[in-house]
Amino acid sequence: MELPYLGVGLSYRWDLNPHLARGNPGVDWLEVTPEHFLPLTDDAERRLDVLAKRYPLVGHSLELSVGSDGVDAPGYRDGLRRIVSRTKSVWHGDHLCFTRVGPLPLRALTPVPLTDEAVETCVRNARAVRADLGVPFVLENIAYLFHTDLDTLDEADFIRRVVEGADCGLLLDLHNVYCNAVNHGYDAYRFLDRLPLDRVVQIHLAGGVTAEGLRLDSHSAPSPEEVWQLLEYVVPRCPVRGVNFEMDSGFPPFVRLVEELARARAILQRHGASKA
Ligand SMILES: [Fe+2]
Repeated sequence: MELPYLGVGLSYRWDLNPHLARGNPGVDWLEVTPEHFLPLTDDAERRLDVLAKRYPLVGHSLELSVGSDGVDAPGYRDGLRRIVSRTKSVWHGDHLCFTRVGPLPLRALTPVPLTDEAVETCVRNARAVRADLGVPFVLENIAYLFHTDLDTLDEADFIRRVVEGADCGLLLDLHNVYCNAVNHGYDAYRFLDRLPLDRVVQIHLAGGVTAEGLRLDSHSAPSPEEVWQLLEYVVPRCPVRGVNFEMDSGFPPFVRLVEELARARAILQRHGASKA
């Protein structure tokens, strides 16, 4: 997958607007959530255009639901297609999960049963998304608090079979790996070793909280040291094209976010990631 190197960026949130409106030299690119701009009204188009003038944009949707049978909400995929085109997104991402059962939206990233049948469904849907959107598609490993007893495959094997079968990229969320490793009692490094790291296009950094013995991917804090260590481990092992920090609440002073990006940039540069 020949893709440009974007560097380090942020997930765009409205709260960050005052710091991004004129461009910011500490932020190389922005990940945008298409659902925040749908329906794509004239005003939504204008807001996207303003961002696109200042930063490379990459889409990261929530509702493609590659683990589901059935169809999208009416007009959804057409809206995505228009956003990908308008933002000149060089790739597009969504989650390896399901968010819909038939026409019923779940409003949550729900883990797919790890079965041969689900591999086939995800591969079929991911291939269709790539064809529909006309850009490379990347799938993100989610954080999950449960799995069902339907599972017949191991999580790393499942991810590998889907991304290789669909010929798509991997959006590796390191805080999700860390949360799952803590909550389900496995070694995050051995897990990473078993993923198709040669397909990593993008990496998510994030932070969360620990509550009632569970590590939660709440996007409400800077990345913990464990996530930085995972980034140090994985960057020399993958051809990453873009890293971005996700935050939804508890925003610190913006300079603190820029420091977070600078730390990620230094790791990428130290390992020559831009030349991978
Ligand atoms: Fe993520």
